[in-house]
Amino acid sequence: MTRRYRVAVVGAGIGAKHVEGYNANPALFDVAVICDRDTARAAALAAQVTTGPCAVHADYDDALLARTDIDIIDICLPPFLHADAISRALRAGKDVVCEKPLVGSLAEVDALEAVVRETGRTLMPVFQVRFGNGLARAQHLMRSGAAGKVYLATAQTHWSRGSDYYQIKWRGTRAYGLGGAFLGHAIHLHDMLTALLGPVRRVSAMMTTRVNPIETEDCGGATLEMADGSIAVLSVTLGSADEVSRLRVMCENVTMEGHGEVYASSKEPWHFIPKAPKDQAWLDAALSGATAGQEGFARQFEDFHQALEAGSAPPVTVAEARASLELITALYYAAKTGERVDLPLRPDHPFYHGW
Ligand SMILES: NC(=O)c1ccc[n+]([C@@H]2O[C@H](COP(=O)([O-])OP(=O)(O)OC[C@H]3O[C@@H](n4cnc5c(N)ncnc54)[C@H](O)[C@@H]3O)[C@@H](O)[C@H]2O)c1
Repeated sequence: MTRRYRVAVVGAGIGAKHVEGYNANPALFDVAVICDRDTARAAALAAQVTTGPCAVHADYDDALLARTDIDIIDICLPPFLHADAISRALRAGKDVVCEKPLVGSLAEVDALEAVVRETGRTLMPVFQVRFGNGLARAQHLMRSGAAGKVYLATAQTHWSRGSDYYQIKWRGTRAYGLGGAFLGHAIHLHDMLTALLGPVRRVSAMMTTRVNPIETEDCGGATLEMADGSIAVLSVTLGSADEVSRLRVMCENVTMEGHGEVYASSKEPWHFIPKAPKDQAWLDAALSGATAGQEGFARQFEDFHQALEAGSAPPVTVAEARASLELITALYYAAKTGERVDLPLRPDHPFYHGW
């Protein structure tokens, strides 16, 4: 019989989207607790839970972590609270899900990896945007070799944020939000980029703050040399009139392009254009082995359940979140110094302990 894991969702902002993801998998998960200091917000979210009765807990404290009827702590707290919250949950014997950005430095993620090893629990970072059937088709073309050599990719994170968004005080700050548009917003598309193209070898970047009176960057551009020798060009702004998250990848045999809808950029419809002499019949055959399923949070959580049952790696690993944080670290260092930065970054890098 399939085991149903009992979950406490901590933080009732984006936690609402997590609840939708668990609600879509009622045979696999039971959201038993919503924890938020804002108990009215927690109660409103608890009322959205359809997996079974759901209680409200006011603070992320030892009493919550001591509950033996909770298997998974799902952390949707502001970024500066993640590292400590994760560590406490792992040490309390819980498996942990945590929102992006996982933590605020390579040193912190390395320390957490040690806690994961020590406790034997599973920590799954959230990158739900990666779980889309369009991106899955693109990955199929890459993995099968059908796409051929990658030439160039562009990743546009062109979003819109105004003063209303910054009413929540941790946003736009280094101390509490840990970074700006590259860390908080473009992180999803850049994760999709590396999920498709693989690791980054070298970066250069420029960043500035022009849209809102905040401490962190809200505009910037970067050029990446990928480990396979291809080039990726990233553009990021929170000052666009419309909102676009679009990945476009030009390869030897095909050009692949997402449709650009924010938070849904990996979902269908993706466009695949065969490059002559390849034709539509070739493309149809090349795409025929790709599989489709649930998307977004629902898919990431479904795959997480499978990994917990099998004792295998979760669908997003700490190593992948580390790679994302390493890219961010390199980008911030490149933007600050004007230097080109080679990866991997070593523990003696000036930004290893934070940017
Ligand atoms: N994956 C995505 O697409 C996505 C989208 C938005 C936000 N996020 C991430 O999710 C996290 C939360 O963002 P948000 O926009 O929901 O923030 P938010 O500020 O709206 O919500 C955080 C909640 O945590 C509660 N809280 C703070 N300290 C607490 C404590 N000690 N105990 C209990 N509750 C406490 C607050 O009352 C608040 O309701 C951030 O890391 C953010 O980057 C991810």
